[in-house]
Amino acid sequence: MFTVKNEFTLTESRETLVVGIFEKTTSFEGLLGEVNTALGDTLASLVKEGDVSAKKGAISKIHTLGKLETKRIYFVGLGKENDYNFEVVRSAFGKLVKAAQKAKVESLDIALDSFITDKVESVDVAHALGEAAPLATYKFADYKQKSNEPAKELSAITVFTNGDQVEVEAALTVGFAYGTGTNSARTLVNTPGNMLTATDLANYAVELAGTYNLEYEVLEKAEMEKLGMGALLAVNKGSVEPPKMIVLKYQGKEEWTDVIGLIGKGITYDSGGYSIKPKDGLVGMKSDMGGAAAVLGAMEIIGQLKPEQNVVAVIPATDNMISGEAFKPDDVITSMSGKTIEILNTDAEGRLALADAVTYAKQHGANYLVDVATLTGGVIVALGNKITGAMTNNEELFEKLLEASNEVGEMIWRLPITDYVKERVRKSNVADMNNSPGRDGHAIFAGAFIGEFVENTPWVHLDIAGTATTSAEYDLGPAGATGVMSRTLAAFVERFGEEE
Ligand code: BES
Ligand code: ZN
Ligand code: ZN
Repeated sequence: MFTVKNEFTLTESRETLVVGIFEKTTSFEGLLGEVNTALGDTLASLVKEGDVSAKKGAISKIHTLGKLETKRIYFVGLGKENDYNFEVVRSAFGKLVKAAQKAKVESLDIALDSFITDKVESVDVAHALGEAAPLATYKFADYKQKSNEPAKELSAITVFTNGDQVEVEAALTVGFAYGTGTNSARTLVNTPGNMLTATDLANYAVELAGTYNLEYEVLEKAEMEKLGMGALLAVNKGSVEPPKMIVLKYQGKEEWTDVIGLIGKGITYDSGGYSIKPKDGLVGMKSDMGGAAAVLGAMEIIGQLKPEQNVVAVIPATDNMISGEAFKPDDVITSMSGKTIEILNTDAEGRLALADAVTYAKQHGANYLVDVATLTGGVIVALGNKITGAMTNNEELFEKLLEASNEVGEMIWRLPITDYVKERVRKSNVADMNNSPGRDGHAIFAGAFIGEFVENTPWVHLDIAGTATTSAEYDLGPAGATGVMSRTLAAFVERFGEEE
């Protein structure tokens, strides 16, 4: 998609040139100056009269009417230079590629240096572009008979820079890996439950392992029974689809030490089981494997960028259905850890699947754990649709995750697990714990429940029930799955062990 070139001349003939412009630019310098001169010193008045806007994220297209060898110019508004940062330029590029795609522009020549400031260097701008281009142009291939013609795609972006060509190329590649990994997660989440069963998810993971040379293991039902994975198996009981426990291993260090465990809830459809969801609550529950998708998206990014880290990904996969064999409220089940669980609500199934996955990740040598799950409606009530809920038993690990999330622009906010919360989870007359202590604060009960299986291993829990999907289009993507946390997890793994 990208080519990087050093020499740039305005006299070269080209279809579309892209230039960044800051607000309150009084004198046009460099390339902007050259463009201004070629346009007969009209840029200032174009800005003044609003034909070209320098406001943050504004995209203005002008035709040069033969005054330049360049046919048209896209000016990308970057706002005030003081407020300018990585996220501003990434969003602006998102808007740019969307506008270009709408206008059926197939190639763009981007003057990268017009986007650079003291704070935001060429590699940052390149990373932002590499990431924004695939994210903002993402479209889920739907199942309409009369699908939109594969319209002309924006397929070639040439980047001109006086900066270090190799560094810029590398940053574009890294950004592109972050963008495309996230898009893969989006596609998994957007795929309907009848087309993405636990078996399909396992096949996808195995294929991914093949592409990036990862070790893998897929446990079948009989093996789970042998290992005593009673919690995941209980969730699967009502289904005709066999469950899978999916494991991917990426080894970037000589020794299998300091292993980061990434665990993703892989409920391919959540009906609620006998504690069935109301009819409106069922719609959208194909997305209940959003945690698994985030982990697989991150593994794709990791597979491409090959950081010097060790990662084990564990995905408990099944749907949560109803039949004469399904598990029921009042049942008592035994998890792989040996802990017994009184089922009070079959719709609180994610924590059950994750309980066994956490135990299994530890068996695979995970020294740190991060689980990602579309776990509770409660987190949506608490934090809405743009902020992921986080819980932890380890400040230091949480700080690392927070930093990664800030770096990629996926907001997380912490919720508490207190002794009182743990008591509520452990309260049962017949078992070691219960899976649904009540509706008051159920996001933290769910997190605390998983914590019981984590025990003393440093751990962060991420509840993405609100953030995994969005109802409205945004700068970096369409409505539907967001692929949230793929990039946070990948950045977290990439930076792990780095000193501050
Ligand atoms: N998969 C749901 C959580 C969810 C809700 C995800 C909305 C995305 C959007 C989860 O398994 C669930 O049903 N949780 C229950 C927990 C309750 C029974 C304690 C919930 O949120 O109501
Ligand atoms: Zn549920
Ligand atoms: Zn669920």
